[in-house]
Amino acid sequence: MSEPTGAARRRGPFRVGDQVQLTDPKGRHYTFTLEAGKQFHTHKGAFPHDELIGAPEGSVVRTTGNVAYLALRPLLPDYVLSMPRGAAVVYPKDAGQILAMADIFAGARVVEAGVGSGSLSSFLLRAIGDHGMLHSYERRADFAEIATQNVERYFGGPHPAWQLTVGDLQDNLSDTDVDRVILDMLAPWECLEPVAKALVPGGILCAYVATTTQLARTVEAIREHGSFNEPAAWETMVRTWHVEGLAVRPDHRMIGHTGFLLTARRLADGVEPPLRRRRPAKGAYGEDYTGPGSGSGGAGADR
Ligand SMILES: C[S@@+](CC[C@H](N)C(=O)[O-])C[C@H]1O[C@@H](n2cnc3c(N)ncnc32)[C@H](O)[C@@H]1O
Repeated sequence: MSEPTGAARRRGPFRVGDQVQLTDPKGRHYTFTLEAGKQFHTHKGAFPHDELIGAPEGSVVRTTGNVAYLALRPLLPDYVLSMPRGAAVVYPKDAGQILAMADIFAGARVVEAGVGSGSLSSFLLRAIGDHGMLHSYERRADFAEIATQNVERYFGGPHPAWQLTVGDLQDNLSDTDVDRVILDMLAPWECLEPVAKALVPGGILCAYVATTTQLARTVEAIREHGSFNEPAAWETMVRTWHVEGLAVRPDHRMIGHTGFLLTARRLADGVEPPLRRRRPAKGAYGEDYTGPGSGSGGAGADR
């Protein structure tokens, strides 16, 4: 049985063309591609790539200045943070949430927009595998080009499950029977109608937005649309820890904010979304509320 795309590049001794992540004695990372006959130069001397070619992962190399570097293949979370960027990437902590909470499964048919630098595309492709389908839409041709290079470098060539269309999702989306739609863009609320048409009943819409105003607008527009169940919204914060002897405490620095996530599931056609049992907070849709459904007799009055 042939291995899934990219899997052979994740194991075995280092080979020409592999990405290598070096860690120096201060924990700093350096990533490069192995080429026969080349030298890797540091401030403290150099070493030949040939020393690593054929060596197992986890080997230690020494420069001519006698500084030791640990050599490992970058993991996908390392790779997406070090690859060339067009737009801001989905951080690994959020990619993990998306894979779990949007229930991305092997063989799934997934639509994604925008592609940006291809970070989320890489996570999605790895999760759906060669027999899934990922159709990604990106409005900027230059970003699509960067993302293609990043994804193909990671998988060692084109991925058989990936199709990339340059253009706005709302003008181009023609896929049907889609299991999951992931939106990482400025205005997800503009895409709800084509997304609802593309999704199977029970399918999941997952949006990743950077600000509270985008979050509110997207959630209200989903409610207003009527083809989805009640959206769930959340964020995650990851705090790394310093663990050394008696000094066991959270690290001083953390990534304070990346974005908010929301999911909603596609209802069957012709079904009225069930009324929410919980009343909205007093004043939530009061006279200061100007979002979707704020007109006379709008959604606010009913809830
Ligand atoms: C934050 S980036 C996406 C990052 C990407 N998910 C990643 O992990 O690398 C947002 C992208 O959405 C694209 N975009 C915004 N609105 C769009 C739309 N309606 N259709 C397609 N692409 C869109 C932008 O050009 C931008 O590249």
